[in-house]
Amino acid sequence: MSDTIEIRKGLAGVVADDTAVSKVNVESNSLLYRGYPVQELAAMAGFEEVVYLLWHGDLPDAQQLADFTAKERSRRALNPAVVAMLDALPATAHPMDVVRTAVSVVGAHDPDAWSQEPDAILDKALTLFAQLPAVVAYAQRKHRGLEPVAPREDLGYSANFLWMTFGEEPDEVVRRAFDVSMTLYAEHSFNASTFTSRVVTSTLSDYYSAIVAAIGALKGPLHGGANEAVMHTFAEIGEAQNVVPWLDAALADKRKIMGFGHRVYKRGDSRVPTMHAALGTLFEHYGRPDLKALYDALESEFVTRTGIYPNLDYPSGPAYHLIGFDTEYFTPIFAASRLAGWTAHVQEQLSANALIRPLSAYVGPAERHLDGYEADAAHTAAATRKTESC
Ligand code: COA
Repeated sequence: MSDTIEIRKGLAGVVADDTAVSKVNVESNSLLYRGYPVQELAAMAGFEEVVYLLWHGDLPDAQQLADFTAKERSRRALNPAVVAMLDALPATAHPMDVVRTAVSVVGAHDPDAWSQEPDAILDKALTLFAQLPAVVAYAQRKHRGLEPVAPREDLGYSANFLWMTFGEEPDEVVRRAFDVSMTLYAEHSFNASTFTSRVVTSTLSDYYSAIVAAIGALKGPLHGGANEAVMHTFAEIGEAQNVVPWLDAALADKRKIMGFGHRVYKRGDSRVPTMHAALGTLFEHYGRPDLKALYDALESEFVTRTGIYPNLDYPSGPAYHLIGFDTEYFTPIFAASRLAGWTAHVQEQLSANALIRPLSAYVGPAERHLDGYEADAAHTAAATRKTESC
């Protein structure tokens, strides 16, 4: 391998393209969606407005929001083909596999699946946006042996998501915390799943294929799966007083502690303070000082020892746990939210497409040959001519 080739493992530090969707600002520890700080959006706008912003570039006015939400609400009921697929999958299927397969089925039933016109992409995205909560809720209820709960058009996105999952209208504190988490998860520049969606789109494959691939990328524990892993960590530790010995052993084993660290942020994740505040309201609402003590103890001990800060998955994992979601459904919730960002990036990729195809530096065996192989006459003649001409 030539000394002049610099390989950036994991594409770390590589700027692959420009984007107008969001800006991760490491220096000021901030995240902007289309120019707006995400914490302002979480405080002042509902998740539907944030999705509209990501897809259209600006926040909606009252009429635009009314039209957008009316369309979303009218598409919440699942296609019977999706329900049949959900019922056919084994009970052991991972919920992310369920969501991924549901998107494939919705795509297979779309006669216009290949269309890449901007309006067609938005239309498909709106259908998935409306239906993913129903898929996640259906899957969790089925897993718990419960009958599905039909969507309600009189509820906003987050209230309806919780309604379909638990069969009761959420308390406002809970709805609000959940809505904030959806806003915070919606978009984060060229993360692994978003980049995956752009790679697939760059081949001019269809929208559904890009989303299916992105869901596959999000499933991994180094990406979306970390919010689930946080709860497994808490279950292992048990209670706050066990944090020190548990961490001693975990660090001695060189274990990665899920929910901490970030490829881009090295001094804290810009989304954490907002989600941490929302989680605080849930600790209070559900009366769980024990879980708060465990959460605080692990954070303070880990940060003190390593200088590595929590990422968004650290507060969102326990938030979803307190709300009542089963742990394996945390990443599907993340997927339902991140669909917003993936879609914005699919649109952007299509608007100025170039096939994404990097190079590699070969480090395998030098050229070698199978015993007994004889080059065909044409090949030999060409090789001979080449030799002769040298
Ligand atoms: N627990 C323990 N050590 C960690 C760590 C964690 N969560 N995150 C980073 N580190 C350590 C690494 O072991 C490495 O140490 P070393 O230099 O002694 O080998 C160093 O910090 C740099 O980490 P590295 O994994 O190379 O950084 P990265 O930019 O490639 O990784 C993540 C970013 C997110 C993959 C990584 O922090 C991680 O695996 N976190 C846990 C999973 C997670 O929460 N993912 C959600 C991301 S939003």
